[in-house]
Amino acid sequence: MRPVARTTVTAALPYANGPLHIGHIAGAYLPADIYVRCLRARGKEVLFVCGSDEHGAAITLRALKEGVTPRAIVDKYHALMGKAFQEFGIHFDIYHRTSSDLHRATSQEFFLQLDRNGAFTEQEEQQYFDEEARQFLADRYIKGTCPNCGNPDAYGDQCEKCGTALSPKDLKEPRSTLSGSKPVLRSTKHWYLPMDRSQAWMEQWINTGMLDGVQQHDAGEWKPQVLGQCNSWLKDGLRPRAMTRDLDWGVPVPLPGADGKVLYVWLDAPIGYISATKQWAQDHASAGSASDWEKWWKSDDTRLLHFIGKDNIVFHCIIFPMLLKLHGGYILPQNVPANEFLNLEGQKLSTSRNWAVWLHEYMERWPGRQDELRYCLGSILPEFKDSEFKWKDFQEKNNSELVSIIGNFVQRVFVLCHKYYDGRVPEPVGGDESDVVLWAGLSAMPDRVAAEVDRFRFRDALANAIDVARMGNKYLSDNEPWKLERTDPARVRTILYNCLRIVGGLSVVLEPFLPFTAQRMRTMLGLGELKWEDALRADLIRPGSPLAKPEHLFKPITDAEIQPEIDRLHATRTTAPSTGTLTAPPPASKPDIGFDDFAKLNLRTGTIVAAEKIPKADKLLKLTIDIGEPMPRTVVSGIAQHYSPEQVVGQAVVLVANLAPRKMRGVESQGMVLMAEDATGRLVFVRPENGVDPGSEVR
Ligand code: MF3
Ligand code: ZN
Repeated sequence: MRPVARTTVTAALPYANGPLHIGHIAGAYLPADIYVRCLRARGKEVLFVCGSDEHGAAITLRALKEGVTPRAIVDKYHALMGKAFQEFGIHFDIYHRTSSDLHRATSQEFFLQLDRNGAFTEQEEQQYFDEEARQFLADRYIKGTCPNCGNPDAYGDQCEKCGTALSPKDLKEPRSTLSGSKPVLRSTKHWYLPMDRSQAWMEQWINTGMLDGVQQHDAGEWKPQVLGQCNSWLKDGLRPRAMTRDLDWGVPVPLPGADGKVLYVWLDAPIGYISATKQWAQDHASAGSASDWEKWWKSDDTRLLHFIGKDNIVFHCIIFPMLLKLHGGYILPQNVPANEFLNLEGQKLSTSRNWAVWLHEYMERWPGRQDELRYCLGSILPEFKDSEFKWKDFQEKNNSELVSIIGNFVQRVFVLCHKYYDGRVPEPVGGDESDVVLWAGLSAMPDRVAAEVDRFRFRDALANAIDVARMGNKYLSDNEPWKLERTDPARVRTILYNCLRIVGGLSVVLEPFLPFTAQRMRTMLGLGELKWEDALRADLIRPGSPLAKPEHLFKPITDAEIQPEIDRLHATRTTAPSTGTLTAPPPASKPDIGFDDFAKLNLRTGTIVAAEKIPKADKLLKLTIDIGEPMPRTVVSGIAQHYSPEQVVGQAVVLVANLAPRKMRGVESQGMVLMAEDATGRLVFVRPENGVDPGSEVR
């Protein structure tokens, strides 16, 4: 194996189409953060990159659903996610975005180099097309039944249930997610990656670690389920895969004859790791070091690791490495420690059903309690199989582990030091047999924690770190200094001095997992930043130095605090649109909003003064609505199957007047008419009582 001088750690770029929930955190970000913190504490050179994935159908479909532009969606969620990561203590060196100019240039250059290397084949092909929406359907624009597991809601690029990567033509009973209609086939040209040509070396690289005669990684270190997914894909035989799409949101294909085409999101997104690194290097450039980014991606002594969830495995283990190799000059990932999924209270986490614990909401409701969640998630990470988050377990782990083991130990030590020594570190004298036993046990711990982290076994690593506090508690209970103080005060000084050393060491081994708590422990001890090797340093604690007041590191969580979380989850759950199309009826219940949210709506009364059909769109009417402004509003409304233009002229309406303008079928829609829909799908106007002036505010 090659020597390792530095490590590049990536965490999957989350789609900027919604907030982060605990499933994302447990899948990729928490393990990556723990890993990076542990390496840093050990003085290793490491770069931790992430950013928002801002292209692809995940974004454009969300924009369509919210009735805003893709730009508005990615700006909103990029900011929200960046803030949530930061506040939760997931500290990337850079949190970049794939809609940046630097990323566009980087991914276009990458594509052109692949093209020059002959990595692509160009093919004119029949592809699914939605005649109603007038758009080609790839990836998430198309749904159907998974040929592998029978999931009826598999996407055109992937089945989220079984993780299999798919092409639209693999789907049984395909349907458009735009209109729900059955797609037809039309011809279009794309750049394909003939993956079949790389089958042989890919198989060998993954399963043996050998590539170009060099041992790149030890396949025995890859998780069995990661190897399993790769091999089931390889067994089916790699097939050509289109690397371009007919869309207007994405990185434009930088070749002549490719108008209206963009790079496939799974081509551009992983290159986002590289452009993030470039941006980081630019931001930290000392004179002449702007090309510093290259050592993180092109040096043989750099180790590249991708932290992801299991639905990303084939993209990171097969497609991206293939692209890196075909481009040339890049190292390949040395490991891809993918996690399985996290479930919540007995059900799959689901954004569409609002069955999730949202990170930013957690931090609002449990301010300053980041480590409590980091601890709970860290101890249930789905490392080898799916696992489950339950609020009751969260409470239980907090109360019987954080409070009783860590908090209790630190509290007892500090209380006694204040009682006996006026809040100063006592001077130890000698030691006895039990101290020898104590240090013998403790001295193995930092290495043990680090070794588990190195193997990506974060649950075991965390359990070992907690054991340090357990040992401290046991040492206290065995020695009972509170009983000895009268008879042997010298011995008590030694005992409590040792305990303070344990608190210091504990703060070191806990830091990767519970950084906020570790920081508080150091502050209490009057210590600054510590490195891993400080954990066992005999002179870590200086006799005579002042100690902060005893402080409870953790508070017990009561039933009265936890039950509302469970209730809330059930109360805010929504039923998923059964057809999965955008025309499905809206969910029956939605989460509560504050008055401030409601107050953001500008609702106005108005009158429809003109109406006409929009050509080739059988659901849409173009309405002209007077709301008392100098110019009437133009509004595109999906009511054509319920009302003829003649029927609606003169109709009083309520208009959402500050909905961001949005183009539909070439017509800019400047608002939305409120309609009520009953169970049979009948649509009726919501209208003010007669006699109110157009433009009156509705509130
Ligand atoms: N956005 C993808 C997801 O959430 C992950 C992209 S990872 C990257 O599943 F490598 F492509 F960036
Ligand atoms: Zn499936």
